[in-house]
Amino acid sequence: MDHPRDEVRARLQTDRPHSARVWNYLLGGKDNYPVDSQVGDVILSTFPEFAAVARLQRKFLARAVRFLVEEAGIRQFLDIGTGLPTADNTHELAQRIAPESRIVYVDNDPLVLTHAEALLTSSDEGACAYIDADVRDPDRILAEAAKTLDFDRPVALTMLGIVGQVSDDDRPAELVARLVSALPPGSYLALSDGTNSNAALNTAVETYNAQSANTYHLRSPQEIAAYFTGLDLVEPGVVASAAWRPDATASAEPTAEVAVCGVARKA
Ligand SMILES: C[S@@+](CC[C@H](N)C(=O)[O-])C[C@H]1O[C@@H](n2cnc3c(N)ncnc32)[C@H](O)[C@@H]1O
Repeated sequence: MDHPRDEVRARLQTDRPHSARVWNYLLGGKDNYPVDSQVGDVILSTFPEFAAVARLQRKFLARAVRFLVEEAGIRQFLDIGTGLPTADNTHELAQRIAPESRIVYVDNDPLVLTHAEALLTSSDEGACAYIDADVRDPDRILAEAAKTLDFDRPVALTMLGIVGQVSDDDRPAELVARLVSALPPGSYLALSDGTNSNAALNTAVETYNAQSANTYHLRSPQEIAAYFTGLDLVEPGVVASAAWRPDATASAEPTAEVAVCGVARKA
């Protein structure tokens, strides 16, 4: 790895919550520090459904990747805002169906970087790579990703719970559009994000933002749907996370629009 251990350690900031670690806590993981679990508990006391919403997002990832591999024939993934490794990471989901799948992960969290080996357990037929980069630097991400992905063939760009990390000043819609512009026809965007539709969730995120290293910006379902502008949404469009092509076996989950998601094709 390019990063000296001391530099990564300095970036860890164990005295401030980091979104990757708080997300890991909410998903029931152990890769977090007391500062993360403490703010996680405050979030849960304000909005108890938050853990279920986090699980729903991972379930959407699983269903979206299955759709993209099985029905859309996608074999290349650019997964930005990957998060800490958990059960069923993107490469495991894709390579279980199509072992030749190639996956590039991108995150800017130093703890995700130190755990990246767990994201690099590719099948022999496929490939996995990890880029320690900021979503606000799309040109660098695209240049690095091109070392693993063939941008002359369709790519699925997966952006789950990451665009909300970008403030309005950093123009999130333009960032998504720049990334999509580099993809060839037949590529897909799969995106999900938290909405500002629920007062308790808004309060929970305000509490998190007041202390965190990386703030979250909840937006309306309409603003999130606008990230897909110019693309052809696959059915059922931009909907609550539990409502996107649910499995026949899906258990009862919150269906309110506290988080919405969609998958769309570039013509
Ligand atoms: C809410 S988590 C979502 C993780 C995963 N995509 C999922 O849905 O389970 C957001 C992730 O985005 C990463 N992140 C936050 N800001 C980022 C940035 N500016 N550039 C790249 N990654 C970022 C965090 O480190 C974290 O891993």
